[in-house]
Amino acid sequence: MEIAEAVKSSRLPGFYKLSLAERVAMVAEWAELCDAEAAVLAGDGLQPAQADLMIENALGTYALPLGVAANFLINGRDYLIPMAVEEPSVLAAVSHSAKLIRAGGGFTAEASEPVMIGQIQLLDVGDGSAADMAAAALALDTHRDELLALADACSPSIVRRGGGARGIEVRPFSDTPVGPMLIIHLLYDTRDAMGANAINTAVETIAPRVAEITGGRTNLRILSNLTDRRTATARGRIPAAELTLPDIPGDEVARLVAEANAFAVVDPYRAATHNKGIMNGIDAVCIATGNDWRAIEAGAHAYAARDGRYRALTDWYVDDHGDLCGEMTLPMAVGIVGGATKVHPTAQVAMKILGVESAGELAAVMACVGLAQNLAAIKALATHGIQKGHMRLHARQIALAAGATDGQVQAIADRLVAEGNIRVERAKELIRN
Ligand code: MEV
Repeated sequence: MEIAEAVKSSRLPGFYKLSLAERVAMVAEWAELCDAEAAVLAGDGLQPAQADLMIENALGTYALPLGVAANFLINGRDYLIPMAVEEPSVLAAVSHSAKLIRAGGGFTAEASEPVMIGQIQLLDVGDGSAADMAAAALALDTHRDELLALADACSPSIVRRGGGARGIEVRPFSDTPVGPMLIIHLLYDTRDAMGANAINTAVETIAPRVAEITGGRTNLRILSNLTDRRTATARGRIPAAELTLPDIPGDEVARLVAEANAFAVVDPYRAATHNKGIMNGIDAVCIATGNDWRAIEAGAHAYAARDGRYRALTDWYVDDHGDLCGEMTLPMAVGIVGGATKVHPTAQVAMKILGVESAGELAAVMACVGLAQNLAAIKALATHGIQKGHMRLHARQIALAAGATDGQVQAIADRLVAEGNIRVERAKELIRN
């Protein structure tokens, strides 16, 4: 395969057939990585001494497979998507879906303004009556500009970059196990940072003044991971003909996918698994880029239950032309400055491969990855099931676990699949023989 041919397009036919070293070389050329950055991909990543500075009681590091997903065309631009994940099939599946969506013109995606929510819990407001709560809310509104200025003073660098405090909202809860409370939301634009530190500093700073203004007592002061003001949206369309399988016409595949989505819209038991499939992709990009995947997980699942019933994050439907269309919006508090993004050497290289210029662009890309990952899962489930393909990849892990050498892994895995007996004991026997 000519490397030069593929440059600037994320279509990398035959990429999976290359050796590890050839893949690293190709991605290095694609993303214009220097030798040191390419060496990071080849295994020269986070060192124990760096880990020791990142967490307490460090012992060493924990590695995960890192790959790139191909075929992503988003808002007219090609992306190679770095993903760190231990689960077989994830990269192949998402690349396949991205290719299908590419055939329909690629993804369109966007992110909202990066407005986060910091929460302050206020108790002992007057006698807890509705009138006293309303008076406290009014007092906070009167002092709105002063509180916003106080919050802005905490992080001048974010304010310089155009971010900062945007508003104050008050939510009364009259009936809680500990009596009435007011929850104050500080809306805060964190620009290209995920912003947890900026938000937490801001709410801790304004809390004493909030207590003075209202005569109440503050307890918790912390950001909310339900970042429903900071969302990303992805859309894709697949011409029905592209979905054609040897034994199922494309328009039928489109209908089966829409039916699968409807299952996850009405049934929380299915929705949990459906959304897990979305997060398979999003988490892998979060991890590769050094973002806080627990925050993204928390936000996604809370958002999926925003109507009071947990449901699918995606919407897949057949349009008037018989084509399959998909759309998803979800909270996406990711950053490209600060945190592990700038400390972890592999995250830095992953960011360079991705080539995004803002947190909003990263959020939009991640939403596309989630939508594509979901399509791959429900298309497989709605047609031939996932186990056949999955077991083929699983067999390689079993062969590895049984102690197969690099040269033996594929042959042992093929034999396990052919025998329909994908077990470590059998793999060990095959290695011995
Ligand atoms: C497995 O990791 C993810 C799936 O279960 C997602 C789904 O069921 O939609 C295949």
